[in-house]
This record gives sequence, C-alpha cells and structure tokens, in this order.
Amino acid sequence: MAITLEELRQQFHEQLRQANAAEAFEDLRVRYLGKKGEITGLLRNMGALAPEKRKEYGAKVNALKEEAEMSIKKRIEEAHARELELKIAATERYDLTLPSTLSEGSYHPITLVQREVEQIFASMGFTIEDYDEIVDDYHCFEALNIPKHHPARDMQDTYYLSNGQLLKTHTSAAQNAIMRKYGAPLRAIFPGRCFRNESTDACHENTFFQMEGIMIDENISISNLIYFMKTMLSEVFQRDVKVRLRPGFFPFVEPGFELDISCAICGGKGCPSCKNSGWLELCPCGMIHPNVLKAGGIDTEKYTGFAFGLGLTRLAMMKYGIKDIRDLNSGNLRSLNQFVK
Ligand code: PHE
Repeated sequence: MAITLEELRQQFHEQLRQANAAEAFEDLRVRYLGKKGEITGLLRNMGALAPEKRKEYGAKVNALKEEAEMSIKKRIEEAHARELELKIAATERYDLTLPSTLSEGSYHPITLVQREVEQIFASMGFTIEDYDEIVDDYHCFEALNIPKHHPARDMQDTYYLSNGQLLKTHTSAAQNAIMRKYGAPLRAIFPGRCFRNESTDACHENTFFQMEGIMIDENISISNLIYFMKTMLSEVFQRDVKVRLRPGFFPFVEPGFELDISCAICGGKGCPSCKNSGWLELCPCGMIHPNVLKAGGIDTEKYTGFAFGLGLTRLAMMKYGIKDIRDLNSGNLRSLNQFVK
C-alpha cells in the first residue's frame, strides 16, 4: 500500500483545513468518502490482507471514515454559523432606547372631561354605567313619562331606524333600565353619545355626549341636587363656578331646572358660543317624576331622587375654550391633539 492510514488521515485534515467554501467541502467528501473515494477505496483493497488482519484494519478504516465525515460536517456547520454572523453584522441596527420622533396619539377632549367627571362622582359613591346607543321608544320616551303624541317628543328630533328602534336622543334613556337593575337606594352616572336630527351651528351638533346622573334614596331633595352639581363643577373647573338655576320643563322631572354656567369663553360678556347671553346651558336637572320612579319599580312612598343630564360636550368646550362644537367631531387632529394627557 503506497500510503498509510495515518498519512491519509493527515492529508485529509490538511486539505480540510485549507478548504473554505461549501463546494470545497463537497469536493473533499467526494474525494475521500465517495464511492471511488480514497478512504472508501481502502476498504475495497482489504482483500489483499491476511484474513486475521482484515478485521482490525477494517475497523481502523471505518473509524477514519467516520472521523472524516464528522470533520466535514463540523466545518460545514461552522461555515453556516459564520455566514449568519456576517449577515447579522451587516443588518441595519436599531437602538430601541432612542426617543421616538413619531407623534403620540392623544385623548379626545370629551374623553378627558368624561373621565374627570367620572372620577369626581365615583369619589361621591356613584357607580358608572354603560348603556346602548340604539334604544326603543319605551326606554327613550314612554318610561320617562313621555307618552305617544306628547308634545315633548317634538323637543327632540329623533333619528328613527327602519325597524322602529331609534338612536337615543338623551342619556335619560337608560334611567329605567338602571333603576330596574339596581333598585333603590341608588347612585349612578351613565355617560353616553346622543343623537338628534338638528341643524348644526357653533353650539349645536347632531351627535354629542351627555352624562346622566341619578341619585335615589330616602329624603333626597333639591338641596342635595344643588350640592352635588356645585361640588362637581367646581372640581372640574378648579374654581368656584358661577351657576344659575332657571325653571326648565322636562316631563320626567318635577320640578325641573336648567342649570346654566357663566360662559368661560367670553367671561360672561357674550359671544357666539353662548349666543351672546353670557350663559351656557350646561345641565338640565330636577327631581325625578314619581311616574318615572314607578316605571323603574321604585317605591315612591319611601324614595325620592334627582336626575341631571350634564352636557359633556358643552363641558369640554367650556373647559378647553373650544369655540365651535363642530371641531369636536371634525377629526381634525391639529386642533384635537392639543389636549394630550
Ligand atoms: N334628558 C334631558 C335632555 O337631554 C336632560 C335632563 C336629564 C333633564 C335629567 C332633566 C333631568 O334634554
């Protein structure tokens, strides 16, 4: 035999050391381990050996064969890993700790005011309730002491759906369901979006937000109502706000009031937002009509209550000095995202 096993082994390793590409490894595999490969060839030549040596020699060749296979495999794996490292090194790097230059989203002014008012009422023991936007005639009118053909229905230009349901015109539409759900005594607020088929101007929109509140207990009177409204408004505006109560008519309260707040935009001098009166209607309210309590399953011998319908949209306008109500629904981010919080 021209070349010893050990020489062949060294020769293989030397060539493997020099190989540096996928094709080179493959060439080596064919050259040493292929059908006509140099190591494979050794096995074929074994016939020339004395029988007692064959076994030992065969085992040595097989060991070399395995060693060569493993070595090639290892080099291929190393090459892959190196390739991957190079790829990663060539990839663009991002520093995730750098501050972003993208503009952040912001809360809508109505959301901000709503949350604030919710917190104030929650601290006074009121629960916060959610209610549908699509309601039926019973909840929006009938249960609120507004029977069919009652002239009060004309006060609220309603959007009716083809199935007879309607878009709620006021958050009072939830009163009945909430009374039925909890019974008395009860303190709850329920913010919501309302819809009225009105023509729009600086202070009217066909879509707006209200926050209804009801408090029902023994011995609830108008002074409780006034106390809660004043506390809440002073908290929201962070100052003692000027309010006035005028008589107001709503079939579901008796007596009913209009609570006005002096216009914060013009300081009470008069501007388009307050129709030059210096006052803004902010919160109609009153003592809940016994018929409404009865429809809600409340014992009117024992309980009385007040209700209010706070104009959340109005409140946001006042608080942030927004002159035109239409800006709030405009989706105009340049004006809306000044309120980031
Ligand atoms: N629901 C009435 C409206 O939107 C407001 C209101 C609520 C009045 C509660 C009195 C009591 O016009």
